[in-house]
Amino acid sequence: MESFQSAKEEVKRAADIVELIGQYVQIKKAGQNYMGLCPFHSEKDPSFTVSPSKQMFHCFGCKRGGDIFAFWMEYHKVTFPQALKDLADRYQVTLPEKPMTPFEKEKMELKASLFEVNRVAAEYFHGILTKSEKGRSGRDYFTRRSIPKEVIREFCLGYVPDEWDGLIRYLSGKKMNLDQAAQSGLVIRKKTGGYYDRFRGRVIFPIFNMRQQIVGFGGRILDDSLPKYINTPETPIFHKGEFLYGLHASHKSIRDNGRAVIVEGYMDVLALRRCGFQEVAGTLGTALTREHIRSVKGYAGEAVVVFDSDSAGKAAAIKSLTSFMNEGLSSKVMVLPEGDDPDSYVSKNGLRGFLSLLEDAVPMFDYYLDSKLAQKEDAVERQVNLLKEVLPVLARLDQVSQQSLYLRRLSEKLGIPESIIRTELQNWQKHHMGETPEDGLRERLSASRAKKVDDLYLLNVLIHHPQAMNRLMSLDYRLILSDPVVVGIFDAIHEIYEKEGATMPSDILESLKDEQAREQFREAMLTPPIFADEGVEQALNGFEEKIHGIKMTESKKKAAQQGDLEGLNRILELKREREGRVI
Ligand code: GTP
Ligand code: MN
Repeated sequence: MESFQSAKEEVKRAADIVELIGQYVQIKKAGQNYMGLCPFHSEKDPSFTVSPSKQMFHCFGCKRGGDIFAFWMEYHKVTFPQALKDLADRYQVTLPEKPMTPFEKEKMELKASLFEVNRVAAEYFHGILTKSEKGRSGRDYFTRRSIPKEVIREFCLGYVPDEWDGLIRYLSGKKMNLDQAAQSGLVIRKKTGGYYDRFRGRVIFPIFNMRQQIVGFGGRILDDSLPKYINTPETPIFHKGEFLYGLHASHKSIRDNGRAVIVEGYMDVLALRRCGFQEVAGTLGTALTREHIRSVKGYAGEAVVVFDSDSAGKAAAIKSLTSFMNEGLSSKVMVLPEGDDPDSYVSKNGLRGFLSLLEDAVPMFDYYLDSKLAQKEDAVERQVNLLKEVLPVLARLDQVSQQSLYLRRLSEKLGIPESIIRTELQNWQKHHMGETPEDGLRERLSASRAKKVDDLYLLNVLIHHPQAMNRLMSLDYRLILSDPVVVGIFDAIHEIYEKEGATMPSDILESLKDEQAREQFREAMLTPPIFADEGVEQALNGFEEKIHGIKMTESKKKAAQQGDLEGLNRILELKREREGRVI
């Protein structure tokens, strides 16, 4: 445990929080600190603060904060052990064996093995494409689509011949576990036993996460048979709608240019990159999710979404508008001529053509309003219908400043005074929303003020000192906890503990069902440990004493009430005995 703690300290010493966070969030020096737009909640004015002297970050908006580990966990959505491992790798610190629960360990090892099997598979696909006789048709395909060697290398593109067991044989030769290959979606288990390759006769596009690990694959057929593309299914490390293709390579350019261009396809990303346009990422055919937007907003001040001129594209644009508005990321729409996608457009018109169209991109909100206003209805009816549609969108905006901005634009476009639209909006809110967000906030704040010191201490020990779990769980903690939310947390953990044994805090967080409990737990996780490792023992003794004291007082009261003198004596004796032992 001690060397584990010291590895954590060593990582902290080796890392610089400003440098680390600066790679993911645009931050600028402001006095002693650095400030930027918070990647964890929607905001227009920077309240995300990074302190080089304290080596911590804090957002004055959403109150998230902590050290490099807290940032890494929140940003990459990983558990603490994973964050420690990632950062230790990054700063070349060797980790001792970790004190993990068997469950925790199993989960982490599974993920690591899935990344590994993906890496080996990508190596196989890439090797065939670049070196093997069997890769000729893949090479011809990429030549036809003008993808040069450098892009093939950078994106580790590959090809897999049309065989049922090409990958299986390669993995077996490398002594890889085929069951894990099945879990990563690379091979499929046959009902009759054995496995077969999922990807056959396709060019392969590995999908990387921001830690440069391969989470999944896309594969395109070479001719026009169907399905044109197949992708890795949902796996423990791949979730549709979470990853933007190419972001692992583009994020630096996106940060430098303050802009991200979002396209749909693998080939669109690669075609733009080949022409020298770097700040691009792809949604891979799924609708743009809030997760996608979150993943670029740390780098970009603005996202330009490229759509085909077809109506499906338009509908998709409108769907993502609310997410953009709520994330506080300004968004534009770039519309391509009928029949073109970014790949075909840039191939025909060159980068200059693409850039000039990009210049004409319009704010997504305006695009939305314009396309609504263009519908064939009578003018008044159109205005009324539009308001009906837009008000719920505006009402749902998390931030008042955002709301005002769009109110003004709406007023300009519709030619209706802002004050009238504002009144309409307030009416709508009154009828449909009830409690305003401020009320909820006030309640939460007063609840946190009422928190008692014992609650804070016990939670803090639970979170920062996993070795204390056994003793904590044997305490009658209900006797000294006063905040029902904290009692709920302890009860929930107790339940897990009875079933699975000691669990890491980061896992507990996920299993808490009540949002208030999660909030409180999170806050406690970002609070530094109150006790040093050496002091925990003593603190636990203190808790035990206190609980014992409370029990004594209660039994005394009871005994006295019932006139049970003998019982009372026994209790007093016990108490003296115990005090004697402690002193
Ligand atoms: P090319 O024809 O190679 O230029 O592909 P494209 O990227 O232009 O394809 P398209 O515009 O048809 O689709 C955009 C993206 O949607 C693709 O890059 C894929 O990620 C995804 N997609 C397209 N077709 C399929 C399919 O049949 N199945 C799945 N799962 N995804 C698809
Ligand atoms: Mn295309």
